Amino acid sequence: MTRSASTLDRPTLDGPVDPDTLRVSDVVHAADSPDAAWWRQAVIYQIYPRSWSDSDGDGIGDLPGITSRLTYLRDLGVDAVWLSPFYTSPQADAGYDVADYRDVDPLFGTLADADALLETAHGLGIRVIVDLVPNHSSDEHVWFQAALAAAPGSAERDLYMFRDGTGEHGELPPNNWQSVFGGPAWTRTTDADGTPGQWYLHLFDRKQPDFNWENPRVRSEFESVLRFWLDRGVDGFRVDVAHGLIKEQGLPDARERTTMLGDTQSTEGDGTTDGDTADDGVDHRVHTPYWDQDGVHEVYRVWRQVLESYGTPDRILCAEAWVEPQERAVAYVRPDEMHQAFNFDFLTAPWIAHDLRSVIESSLRAADSVGAPSTWVLSNHDVVRHASRLGFEPGHRRQNGIAAGDPQPDRALGLRRARAATTLMLALPGGAYVYQGEELGLPDSTDMPDEFRQDPTFARTAGAETGRDGCRVPLPWVAGAPSNGFGPSDRTWLPQPDVYREYAVDTQVGVEGSTLELYRTLLAGRRDLALGTGSLAFVEGYGSDVVALVNGGREQVLVVANLGAEPVRLPEGAEVLVSSAPLVDDLVPTDTTVWARWA
Ligand code: NOJ
Repeated sequence: MTRSASTLDRPTLDGPVDPDTLRVSDVVHAADSPDAAWWRQAVIYQIYPRSWSDSDGDGIGDLPGITSRLTYLRDLGVDAVWLSPFYTSPQADAGYDVADYRDVDPLFGTLADADALLETAHGLGIRVIVDLVPNHSSDEHVWFQAALAAAPGSAERDLYMFRDGTGEHGELPPNNWQSVFGGPAWTRTTDADGTPGQWYLHLFDRKQPDFNWENPRVRSEFESVLRFWLDRGVDGFRVDVAHGLIKEQGLPDARERTTMLGDTQSTEGDGTTDGDTADDGVDHRVHTPYWDQDGVHEVYRVWRQVLESYGTPDRILCAEAWVEPQERAVAYVRPDEMHQAFNFDFLTAPWIAHDLRSVIESSLRAADSVGAPSTWVLSNHDVVRHASRLGFEPGHRRQNGIAAGDPQPDRALGLRRARAATTLMLALPGGAYVYQGEELGLPDSTDMPDEFRQDPTFARTAGAETGRDGCRVPLPWVAGAPSNGFGPSDRTWLPQPDVYREYAVDTQVGVEGSTLELYRTLLAGRRDLALGTGSLAFVEGYGSDVVALVNGGREQVLVVANLGAEPVRLPEGAEVLVSSAPLVDDLVPTDTTVWARWA
């Protein structure tokens, strides 16, 4: 993929910019030590176990299926995997409703299968991070069942958030909090004699009761769960709803409902986003009594000590915390708390150069202020895949799923931009997360018939919110095989769209220009050039539709992402290393990102 741009020595412009006038800004982010801890630069691949690989043909992915295909990830070049929950669960929220934190659900296998996965991954040099769900359990957890059977005010009930109702007969919920999935965040219980009883809090589905983190037993239980998995050899935890554990004293009414996923992606006249304000008029920066309470940090300080007691190499914690502004978000990654936090500001940034540049700069500065690495992410199991999201123009409402009757994304445009976005992301210093299937350029399923939908959001909002099933469809491995090679049968728990066969792994391996080969090249290049620990400065002089920067890792790598309508030139002497789309007449065309060696 190496090509010289030395023919670009003409003094006149082929693009709108004269590259000879380029200037490198002051360093925005200083280089990390080349032997920095692994997680400061790691690329972590998210496996959604239901949908990665099915070994037994029941249509649901499982742990042996994952183990059998780990060499694919070694060849892809990732450092670690994060597995979404595979624990015992009634699957009311696809496993984010845990009934037993110390066992594997039979759908996914056994504890022995988890051990085998860990051993195989470690043998291949891949670290394994598991999901921890501490905000809530399943209502089928033994603690919650005991709490339901016990009396109000009992020790059992104090492990969860039970409260008396309001209204003359307690017929109204204790406060106005709404579930993130839609509907009230409180469900009323029924006492043994059949009369209506207390209410319990569930910020998500009614089958996901919130724990009471003021209770020391809850705290010691989770420390024990951490040790259970650390003793089995895991390398860290992705912490679900890390900003939700502690609720404000007295549980005051919330001013507004906060949704986790629905939001807008619009631009103001000055090109900045209004990403803090959803189209429901909610300012997400307003104080919410169940998110980001200061008390959560005490929990993570204790957990950090638990992890550190396991010595080196480091075991890590990564926060899923939808917290704004960034100054508050980085409190989760202070030196004695978690190691990483997902950078949702990057994920939600629209395809506008000004916005991308601004979020890159602010993320690095915020993380640097606490000595943490920034992270970068574009897709996960909760959002529309970036290959589909970017198939709409900026300003399109950022949806919680795309349904058949909705405006459809432009698939080719989305893929082109997704490749450019990833090529930009993987050039940035810090850690990066890759969601399964994005390395194939997979789009969301955007025409799934409603009868297949399983995301509780869909039912709880009576279909008003489509939900997240579209990004969770089983992966295509072998084009045209039953279930496109997802498993040995033709069963898949969600239907694969017809177009998925075009994206199957076997159609891309070794194929020049395929998205899979692009990811492999990027990941190998990122490692060889030490981009994860490099410094970052912006390159000034291109137009406002270009993000241009220099990563000073092992050497100076110029990164040019052209989001504008006009092609742009690279500076003289720049040697192209990789490009998300072919250059045209030596110019970087629209929606293309290039890495170039630049002495
Ligand atoms: C965040 C998870 O990523 C999501 O999938 C889940 O539904 C909620 N937390 C509740 O656990």
